Amino acid sequence: LAAAVSNAGGLGTLGCIGNTLDQVMQQVRSIRALTDRPFSLNFVVHFMEEDTFRAALAEQIPVFTFFRGDPAKVVPRARDAGAKTIYQITTVEEAEQACEVGVDVLIAQGNEAGGHMGPIPLLTLLPEVVAVAGSRPVLAAGGIVDGRGLAAALCLGASGVVMGTRFLATLESPASELHKQALLDAKPGDTVASPMWDILSGRDWPGGIKVRTIRNQLTARWAGREDELLNVVDEVCAQLEQARAKMDTDMILFLAGEGAGRIRDVVPAAQVVREVVTEAEQILRRVNGLVQ
Ligand SMILES: Cc1cc2nc3c(=O)[nH]c(=O)nc-3n(C[C@H](O)[C@H](O)[C@H](O)COP(=O)(O)O)c2cc1C
Repeated sequence: LAAAVSNAGGLGTLGCIGNTLDQVMQQVRSIRALTDRPFSLNFVVHFMEEDTFRAALAEQIPVFTFFRGDPAKVVPRARDAGAKTIYQITTVEEAEQACEVGVDVLIAQGNEAGGHMGPIPLLTLLPEVVAVAGSRPVLAAGGIVDGRGLAAALCLGASGVVMGTRFLATLESPASELHKQALLDAKPGDTVASPMWDILSGRDWPGGIKVRTIRNQLTARWAGREDELLNVVDEVCAQLEQARAKMDTDMILFLAGEGAGRIRDVVPAAQVVREVVTEAEQILRRVNGLVQ
C-alpha cells in the first residue's frame, strides 16, 4: 500500500507500531523494491522501540512521521540523519512543541480521524495550526476521503492532506475483507470515539486518548462506560475472542474515521490519489470563478 501511494505521487507511509525490528526492515526492503519514490516511516513516539528507530535512521529513510510523545527526543535525531520530519499533532500546544525543535512539516489531525485521535474538529484546529506553523507546510488529517476534502483543506490553509481511512478501502490495503465491508456499509455518523480499543488490547496510551471505530453492538454496550469495562476486561476479551472466531462483526472493533460514511468502493490506491487530485482541481477552478 505504501509503495502504491508513493508511486501514485503521494507519500506512502509505513506504520511501525506493533512491528518488530525485523518486520520493519523487511517491509522497508519491500517498499524499496516496489518504488524509487520517497516514502515515510511512522513512529508513535511513546511506544517506539529504540532499536527499530536507530536501525531506521541508519537505513537513510527519506521521511519520518511521528505521533504523540516528545518531539525533542526524535526530531533532531531524524534531521541529523538527513531525513525530513513530519509531526502529527492534535492540539495547538503540540504543534508549538514540534515547531520549537524544528520539525519540517506538521499534520493537524482533527477529531474526525480514524484510529487514535485528539479532541478538536479539523475545521477549528487547522487554521490555528497554520497560524503557529509559520512557513512550515501543514497537512490536514481527519475525515478526508475525496477531492472535496482536499480542496476544503487547502482553503483552510493546508498544503496537502493525510488520508488513512480512505486507503483502508483499497485493493492494496492489508485490512481484512470484513473491515473493508464495514467501511462500505458505514453511513455518516456511524463511528464512535472511545478508549475501549486500548483497554481491550491492554495498551496503555498516556493521556487517555480515544480511538475512533465503527459503531456496533460492542461499542453500544461499552462506549461511555469504560470505567465499568475496566472491571471485566478479561471476561469481555474472552467473549470477543469467540466472537472473532465466528467473524461476528458486531463484536469486532474496526478502526475508521468519520469519512467512512462517504466511502462507496474498494479501488486501487493509485486511483484514490488520482481521483482526489483531479476532483480538487476541478473544484478549485470552479470556486476561483466565483470571484471573477
Ligand atoms: C487503521 C488506522 C491505523 C492508524 N495507525 C496510525 C499509526 O500507527 N500512527 C499514526 O501516527 N497514526 C495512525 N493513524 C491515524 C492516521 O495517521 C491519520 O491521522 C488518520 O487516518 C486521518 O484520518 P482519516 O482516517 O479520517 O483519514 C491510523 C489511522 C487508521 C484509520
